[in-house]
Amino acid sequence: MTVHSSTDSSAVVIRPARPADQASSDGLPPLRPDGDGPRWRRTVVAERAGEVVGLASMQLDPVTENYLCEVVVAPAHRRAGIGTSLYGAACQLLERPYRVQARAMARQPLRRLFAEALGCELVRHHPEPWADPTTTPWRQWIDAHPVPDGHTALTLAEADPAGVRRAWLQYDEWSHAPVGPVRPHHLVDAWERYRSGLDADTSTVVVEEAAPEEVLAFCLVSAQQWEGRTLAVSETAAPDQEDGVAFLEAAVARTLLRLGARGVRRVELEGHSDDPHFPVLVAGLPEHDADPMDLLALRRPAAG
Ligand SMILES: CC(C)(COP(=O)(O)OP(=O)(O)OC[C@H]1O[C@@H](n2cnc3c(N)ncnc32)[C@H](O)[C@@H]1OP(=O)(O)O)[C@@H](O)C(=O)NCCC(=O)NCCS
Repeated sequence: MTVHSSTDSSAVVIRPARPADQASSDGLPPLRPDGDGPRWRRTVVAERAGEVVGLASMQLDPVTENYLCEVVVAPAHRRAGIGTSLYGAACQLLERPYRVQARAMARQPLRRLFAEALGCELVRHHPEPWADPTTTPWRQWIDAHPVPDGHTALTLAEADPAGVRRAWLQYDEWSHAPVGPVRPHHLVDAWERYRSGLDADTSTVVVEEAAPEEVLAFCLVSAQQWEGRTLAVSETAAPDQEDGVAFLEAAVARTLLRLGARGVRRVELEGHSDDPHFPVLVAGLPEHDADPMDLLALRRPAAG
């Protein structure tokens, strides 16, 4: 597809990934297979002297009309334009005019530098605070946020599955709206995949005692996702939930209590800066570390 000449005269070829390809250079993630339909994915690789030294993958967002982009170039081959060429080649494979998005985490600064070089704009900010529920300040915060009177906290294992599913689907639809047009028919599929990875004993839902099948707020835990981080997604089911911050805090507090009892020391609280209750929750947390993440829209090169 694209060929770079280089000082050591070994050319770099950019081409679609093949099933037999292996990321043979250090620092590259395993290649994931292409997909079609709602799980559409394509990958291009950079090959030098028979070795895969970089890759770019585009994946259809499971819920919104966006593509999610990942570009990785092996450290020894960086700053030679390979990442930019991979991105351009991957864009040529896109079948729809959807926006291309990438994640830029504060602790991976190259992501932002690269995105800025391509041209990008902020879609939304994720504060991503880290909780250590084994420490005194966090135990005090947990104790200070009980479940409001007339309500109760259930684990996911105890809760009505249909009620949790309904709450999640409601949340997922309104929370994605600022990111781009939602593809509602894919929400259910996305929930089934997400649900299968949740920890039922530390995830919490808050319900009214008189109506336990109506979930008001939740804190859903995916244990040990990456770099030792346990991820917890927390919000109210309805964006305009009355006393929503108190319900949200209670859900997070019950989950942290259970994770603390297990000795889990890094819980990343996931939520968005434009959610109605999450930023208020973050503002009241004890002093904490964080890995803020920006969702960026990348400029698509002109076709041709
Ligand atoms: C980000 C990454 C893919 C860039 O690959 P690359 O082949 O070095 O990219 P390019 O050579 O095309 O760089 C394009 C521009 O990005 C910016 N950039 C890339 N790496 C940079 C660095 N280390 N410092 C400052 N700017 C940098 C520069 O503006 C660069 O242009 P320049 O070299 O003319 O100054 C690579 O560093 C990498 O794999 N990092 C880890 C994974 C990652 O962060 N991926 C991005 C997620 S989408």
